[in-house]
Amino acid sequence: MSTLLSLRNVWVEFGDRVVLENMNLDIEAGSFVSVVGPSGAGKSSFLRVILGQDAPSRGQILLDGAPLSPECGPDRGVVFQRYSVFPHLAVLENTAFGLECAGSPLLGRLFGSARRKAYAQAEEMLAAVGLGDSLHLYPAQMSGGMQQRLAIAQALIKRPRILLLDEPFGALDPGIRADMHALITRLWSEYGLTIIMVTHDIREAFSLGTRVLALDKRRHDPHAPHRFGATAVYDLPLDKTKAENPSELAA
Ligand SMILES: Nc1ncnc2c1ncn2[C@@H]1O[C@H](COP(=O)(O)OP(=O)(O)OP(=O)(O)O)[C@@H](O)[C@H]1O
Ligand SMILES: [Mg+2]
Repeated sequence: MSTLLSLRNVWVEFGDRVVLENMNLDIEAGSFVSVVGPSGAGKSSFLRVILGQDAPSRGQILLDGAPLSPECGPDRGVVFQRYSVFPHLAVLENTAFGLECAGSPLLGRLFGSARRKAYAQAEEMLAAVGLGDSLHLYPAQMSGGMQQRLAIAQALIKRPRILLLDEPFGALDPGIRADMHALITRLWSEYGLTIIMVTHDIREAFSLGTRVLALDKRRHDPHAPHRFGATAVYDLPLDKTKAENPSELAA
């Protein structure tokens, strides 16, 4: 396996508030990294710098050994806990929108054969996430689980190599969560994704991840709680000899 993403002495600071301090990390291509830690530890901030939404205040992030471009590139897709789909667009349009925007940044619309191709791709992606029969529903007509399937289709439509998930299943019922776990595991292997997933559910972290990172502060200043940031206090590679999925052993 090769290193896809490297953090080198990465700091995230807002004024005098240190959120992440001096993080050094290599993430292997094809791994599934679960990120846990107390509320406010900086997990979402960690995802945002990898996404390119925020720049680190110090240090460097490398993608395939080259500095990460400052914009959110097509190589990275993201799913948040909720509210990431467009309420005024039906499922199919919601999914094709990313391609329409990329292909026609000014109008946000494609025409003719380019449009047909984008919609065919969107249909294929929706089938892959189990929404093949719901192309014309609007988000308000869908359950939370279906909306998260849609958010995943949106994130994957541009075929990113890295999928960032910020508590994607946190708002779902346990039964639906189990379905979503199966879905994300399947997409991870089918699309050869590298996944970084923030979760508050420690069982989810261990059952899905090939590696668990715990972010927390190593040191506290009781008089100035913002003075020190979090870093990876635990970094546990899980020896998943992929007993559940022997086909991946061969890969
Ligand atoms: N733009 C910003 N300006 C100032 N402070 C910020 C900014 N963004 C985040 N922070 C601070 O950074 C800290 C970490 O926030 P972050 O959202 O990354 O935590 P988290 O681990 O994702 O928490 P949660 O589990 O509650 O989602 C918080 O103290 C937050 O107030
Ligand atoms: Mg968060």
